[in-house]
Amino acid sequence: MNKYKVQFHAHTGSDPSDCIFHSDKDLIDRAAHHNYDVLAITCHDKVVHTEELKEYAAGKGILLISGIEKTVSGNHVVIVNATMEIESVKTFKDLEIYKQKNPDSLIFAPHPYHPLPISVVSLGKNLDKNIHLFDAIEWSCFHTKHFKFNAKAQKKAAEFGLPMIATGDNHALRYLDYTYSIVNAPSKTVKNIINAIKKGDLEIKTRPMNFMMLAGMTGRLLVLEYLRKLYKFIFRTKAQKKTVEFGTPKYLDHTYSIIRATSKTVHGIINAVKRGEFRSKQSQ
Ligand SMILES: [Fe+2]
Repeated sequence: MNKYKVQFHAHTGSDPSDCIFHSDKDLIDRAAHHNYDVLAITCHDKVVHTEELKEYAAGKGILLISGIEKTVSGNHVVIVNATMEIESVKTFKDLEIYKQKNPDSLIFAPHPYHPLPISVVSLGKNLDKNIHLFDAIEWSCFHTKHFKFNAKAQKKAAEFGLPMIATGDNHALRYLDYTYSIVNAPSKTVKNIINAIKKGDLEIKTRPMNFMMLAGMTGRLLVLEYLRKLYKFIFRTKAQKKTVEFGTPKYLDHTYSIIRATSKTVHGIINAVKRGEFRSKQSQ
């Protein structure tokens, strides 16, 4: 049995929700720097995995597996070895059908019982209600020596007999290596890695953040998210103004044509234009 260093929860600048400054390739480069063997890019509601990225990662000794952090009935769920079909999953019922069609995927509950601000999108009680859909529960990097935010997740994992997968929920590269999993598998294939995790053949590797790091990370995400929304709002408003400027009916009468035709029929009007029997009018 071999040991593989695995990171299955990481965001990049391709993420449509969070404001992140590093690219997919930056993440792969940093993962290679930390000697990861297996990696999944799990952006919100979008599969960013491509064959080109897979080859790029392979060139650095990393098995890149497709992934996503999908919003399902308002809750975040991470799916690894995901197909593009996952993007259309909206509800737990959809996820159930997806799981039946894609039994080789790995579905886990990220930060399920973390406090605000993450709790808004965390599974909470919905994890209990839909536990049959989950292969594992996340041990999240978001914890400190004194704030043991993973304690309830750990208790639930034991109660439901599910393995815990440690991840970095990475948004900034400098924290990539704080929390990850070591998976024991016979070889580095998608199937072997995912099967080993489902069987619980993995170890949690984590170090607590200090309070300032945690507060800084959370604050940074919230501020950047606010700025991103503000930016989108300003540019949307500008776009709307342009529509008003150029498309409003009050300018309808500024420029038009007077056509001299024998009758108001399609044939009569078009023929008159073709003969040049019209005058352009422009109001001041
Ligand atoms: Fe995440």
